[in-house]
Amino acid sequence: MFLHGTSTINGQGHLQIGGCDTAALANTFGTPLYVMDEDLIRRRCREFNEAFQASGLKFQVAFASKAFCVMAMCRLIEEEGLTLDVVSDGELYTALQAGFPPERIHFHGNNKTPEEIDYAVEAGIGVFVVDNFHELALLNAIAGSKRKKIDILLRVSPGVEAHTHDYMLTGNEDSKFGFDLGSGAAMEAARRALEQPNLELLGIHSHIGSQIFEVEGFRHAVEKLMGFALAVRDETGAVFRVFNLGGGFGVRYVEGDSPLEIKDYVKAITENIHSTFTAGGYPVPAVWVEPGRTIVGDAGTTLYRIGSMKDLPGIRKYVSVDGGMTDNPRPALYQAKYEALLANRASEANEETVSIAGKCCESGDMLIWDLELPKAEAGDILAVSCTGAYNYSMASNYNRIRRPAVVFVKDGEAEVVVQRESHADLVRNDVIPARLRKQPSEAGKR
Ligand code: LLP
Repeated sequence: MFLHGTSTINGQGHLQIGGCDTAALANTFGTPLYVMDEDLIRRRCREFNEAFQASGLKFQVAFASKAFCVMAMCRLIEEEGLTLDVVSDGELYTALQAGFPPERIHFHGNNKTPEEIDYAVEAGIGVFVVDNFHELALLNAIAGSKRKKIDILLRVSPGVEAHTHDYMLTGNEDSKFGFDLGSGAAMEAARRALEQPNLELLGIHSHIGSQIFEVEGFRHAVEKLMGFALAVRDETGAVFRVFNLGGGFGVRYVEGDSPLEIKDYVKAITENIHSTFTAGGYPVPAVWVEPGRTIVGDAGTTLYRIGSMKDLPGIRKYVSVDGGMTDNPRPALYQAKYEALLANRASEANEETVSIAGKCCESGDMLIWDLELPKAEAGDILAVSCTGAYNYSMASNYNRIRRPAVVFVKDGEAEVVVQRESHADLVRNDVIPARLRKQPSEAGKR
């Protein structure tokens, strides 16, 4: 397994993260356990900020909180000077509860409800990224009713669709997000936005995909947005002050993944901006980005305890862990690949090839196929790396499995930032109609 951030193998042959022995973490906090390397998260934030500072452009780096939205993370993001992107009232609530300054929050989403808009306008959030005509009218009306003027960006779909190792141009711009450029919807949106008395059009936004390794897609999007900005200026006289290029920068999950360094992604998307805009006689806009995975992905490691095994000679050996698709749905959803090692025997040589199964009643609940490991035994701790993004945030209670705890580790200290769910948490929102009610069984009490 590739060792990310502060991960090392200590003298006892145990995986250590943030100066904490992960075998000890598993014993202290139980498993499954999400372990987040605080120094690595901070380093990623700084890499973005430093790369943009080097570009000489005005900029904002917003953490896409969908990747990992908990209150401690919001605090950390604020301390590092980033802004925050939220896509629901739940993410917004989490940020506000953590004391995140509302004016540094951007609100995304393709179907913000009137209640969500009301909540966000009332809270005084900084920017709405408006996705569609329905929202444009709704937001203008709600802002007017509160006598507020709201800064907005228009989300456009530039017809650039990026895939992990590839990018392609989609002629039909078939996406549920944003105003498309090709059909003229984006131009119409700009016209209407400029007419709304309670909205201030700051600029445009595009997000072309996720886990992208090459820069051509981003560059192509910048070109398309630039062309659009010029067309809007010709038609309306309005000038965009902000170009938000979204997130999507790739990270290394497994050997063979070859993401660029953050500074190189930033350089690639910013290097032509100054010259291109200046040549076009257009005031150079601020460039905003919204990384999620790059900030937290490789900072996360999930610890599991190994339990049962099933050896099918000549076929495969299944090694089961005490979590699975409930804490990491990505392999089941996207055939995502992960690396892992035995945290308590990290310096031992690999001896066999096994497949790591989750504990859900679902054949598709497999975390890793064909993983090289020392001969694992029940009780060993399996550490799966690069689980910081879209794991906790996409976790579920399927099979009524409790969501794990999350700890931040730094300088040999581990702090719980999300408690493990209790059995009581599982039934907290359940209601038994009076006609069906009886006393809980004594035996079931926890
Ligand atoms: N901005 C917008 C508007 C987005 O839709 C997203 C991600 C981001 C920023 C952050 O993208 P990132 O830098 O994290 O790639 N659940 C999937 C990922 C879905 C991403 C959705 N949008 C996964 O587990 O891979």
